[in-house]
Amino acid sequence: MSGVLKLGELHGSLADPLLDAMTFLNEVTGRYPEAISFAPGRPYEEFFDPADIPGHLETYLRHLREEKGLTESQVRQEVFQYGRTKGIIAPLIARALAADEGITADPEALVVTVGAQEGMLLVLRALCAGPDDVLLVSSPCYVGVTGAARLLDLTVRPVPEAGPDGGLDPDALADAVRELRAAGKRPRACYVVPDFANPSGASMDERARRRLLDVAESTGILLIEDNPYGFFGRTGPARPTLKALDGDRRNVVYLGSFAKTCFPGARVGYLLADQQVVDEDGRSGLLADELAKLKSMTTVNTSALAQAVIGGMLLAGGLRLREANEPARQFYARNMDTLLTELENAFRSVPGVSWNSPEGGFFAVVTVPFRADARALDVCARTYGVLWTPMDGFHPGGGGERQLRLSCSYLTPEQIAEGVRRLARFVTERTAGQN
Ligand SMILES: Cc1ncc(COP(=O)(O)O)c(C=O)c1O
Repeated sequence: MSGVLKLGELHGSLADPLLDAMTFLNEVTGRYPEAISFAPGRPYEEFFDPADIPGHLETYLRHLREEKGLTESQVRQEVFQYGRTKGIIAPLIARALAADEGITADPEALVVTVGAQEGMLLVLRALCAGPDDVLLVSSPCYVGVTGAARLLDLTVRPVPEAGPDGGLDPDALADAVRELRAAGKRPRACYVVPDFANPSGASMDERARRRLLDVAESTGILLIEDNPYGFFGRTGPARPTLKALDGDRRNVVYLGSFAKTCFPGARVGYLLADQQVVDEDGRSGLLADELAKLKSMTTVNTSALAQAVIGGMLLAGGLRLREANEPARQFYARNMDTLLTELENAFRSVPGVSWNSPEGGFFAVVTVPFRADARALDVCARTYGVLWTPMDGFHPGGGGERQLRLSCSYLTPEQIAEGVRRLARFVTERTAGQN
């Protein structure tokens, strides 16, 4: 064999360009260090100070000693040893969820995961058992979930969003479920980001949320709600999560991420899975416990050290993460305002160019009159010094070829203004056929 493997004989996902998308998003900015980058959905780095990390760790250790009454040897075990599969900070997360979202969570129904990404993989693995099972996704869709589905050889069916700012269309979901069942398929769950979705920036209004929950109840479809951006509203008050609105019906598995509300380097997220699972003998337990079994064979447990730092941050914020994120919310809201104003200034009179107006979050989408693919991006980065993300990779059923995603989270308002001016030069020259 002499160290050579044939790609065609490895898992099919490895030849799928979808699996390059996450690395592309994380690394493209580094490839063009001079360019202004609207590409990565990263939090603004000036919020972070490495000197804060020991303080957060210390806060958590103090909590273990003083509030939980652990002995020194128990504290040592908690942070140095292999830990509980479901994690060690679930009680703190449950309290923050109650304060921030009005979600009542039994800590036993929580699993602390290696980012929301691991949560997606675990939920999809558990829910989809056979070749007829289908995962519905709001489309355009975050590549983390379509990528996880691809790893699991799981069929994905896109469900369109309702217009450029509307979020997942509940009636389109009902239609898709009906069609799939008529074709002998088993639609299992629908993945949705109701607040400031990645990549579209779209949000569902409260009426659409309630309608979606009714569709879930009447069709027996679980909703997988992913909520990394919910704190970062730009206009109007925060809307209730699907999980909060759903109450005791338990049609929603909730995915949380600390990547944007604390920091992504921790790689800590969680899932709330309070559904009951019943076996053939009528014994029942929590879905969270089944997911923990899968986790035990995936990552064993989420790093205790990383959990301790996030736990310290939760404690430092009085177990109210929304309040602690108010400066970040204001920063991102101002950036989105700047982006939308600059787009208006630059493209107001350019035919064939339009964009949406997200009510918050990190992302907006611009439609242009030419193919906005990886080759166009390369030209734009090298010649015009500005980076963005092609939208076609976010459309599992095809589409988005003439759209690009702009992320405004990683830049200052001045960089955003200059970046849009550069983008405008690229778009107008490309439209005029000069490239
Ligand atoms: C919609 C969505 N879900 C989840 C994540 C990632 O979460 P985590 O870093 O916790 O895995 C992201 C990050 O970009 C995202 O946009």
